[in-house]
Amino acid sequence: MRYPGTVSDLSLRPRRLRRTPAIRRMVQEIQLSPADLIHPIFVHEGRDVTEIRTMPGVQRHTFESAVEQAQQAQALGIPAVILFGIPDHKDAGGSQAYAQEGVIQQATRAIKATAPDLAVIADTCLCEYTDHGHCGHLVQDAGQWTVDNDSSLELLARTAVSQADAGADLIAPSAMMDGQITAIRRALDAAGHAQVPVMSYAVKYASAYYGPFREAAGSAPSVGDRATYQMNPAGGYREALHEAALDAEQGADFLMVKPALAYLDVLRQLRDHFDLPLVAYNVSGEYSLVKAAAQAGYMDERRTVLETLGAMKRAGADTILTYHALDAARWMKEG
Ligand code: PBG
Ligand code: ZN
Repeated sequence: MRYPGTVSDLSLRPRRLRRTPAIRRMVQEIQLSPADLIHPIFVHEGRDVTEIRTMPGVQRHTFESAVEQAQQAQALGIPAVILFGIPDHKDAGGSQAYAQEGVIQQATRAIKATAPDLAVIADTCLCEYTDHGHCGHLVQDAGQWTVDNDSSLELLARTAVSQADAGADLIAPSAMMDGQITAIRRALDAAGHAQVPVMSYAVKYASAYYGPFREAAGSAPSVGDRATYQMNPAGGYREALHEAALDAEQGADFLMVKPALAYLDVLRQLRDHFDLPLVAYNVSGEYSLVKAAAQAGYMDERRTVLETLGAMKRAGADTILTYHALDAARWMKEG
């Protein structure tokens, strides 16, 4: 049976623009470049580089190997790395997060000494440093464990200042405490770091996609979960826009959406409502899904990764934080 009208006007043929690789490149709308990427590095105080069971191809680095990672990123044209610290010692107040000789502080100094042109971003949170794994001071409220907001702001501000003192070029608060951008901005300004931008994890969901990261950093909460401070994955656009607006008002220089892939629509909403640079965080679970499928031979890793990163740009990301960064930059360079 022929459907009337389906072959009516064959002067309109979109396939003309797909005929050769050169024509396809001429009309391609999304361009990916290594300059779009941020390379995450896990740094610990151990003497050995250790594999992370849940994230094939990602390691916990020593100071020396973290420096090598940074140099590789720089050589590939990646402008920035973000550091996640895994301290030997954890306590209730997360004191190693703001210790002068803390793991992030030492790693930052080492990287800035050898790759001064690379931007070093410090992830600013307490969960990797507290023995209970929460992102601030743990208290009980209404019969459940939760994080006390206002007393945690002080810890975050101290952490940010100590990271900037160590030479961090950007501060990236990820704790989802109310008012954290104001608290950190004031503290940075008072400490002589008025020129250090804040990259806010503004829209961050309480996501199952962080599972592999928590094993990497040993930062899974020992009691309760993060649902009283991270956003409900079933939230809508109003909540996302409200969070972003609060952070923009408080002086955030970048806004981030995390995770990225299941929230590309949220990324697009932020793109359409704000003029600040936008970061998409292609989180650990998104990475590990692709790695596992590639290792099983179910999918082509290179094509999957580049398609995924392109989707994040199309949704409105200016920069993408991704564990695929080094591989992706190499693939982009190969063309
Ligand atoms: C710390 C932090 C987390 C991630 C980045 N910073 C973990 C969390 O909220 O549990 C997750 C990143 C990822 O899954 O790749 N607050
Ligand atoms: Zn945290």
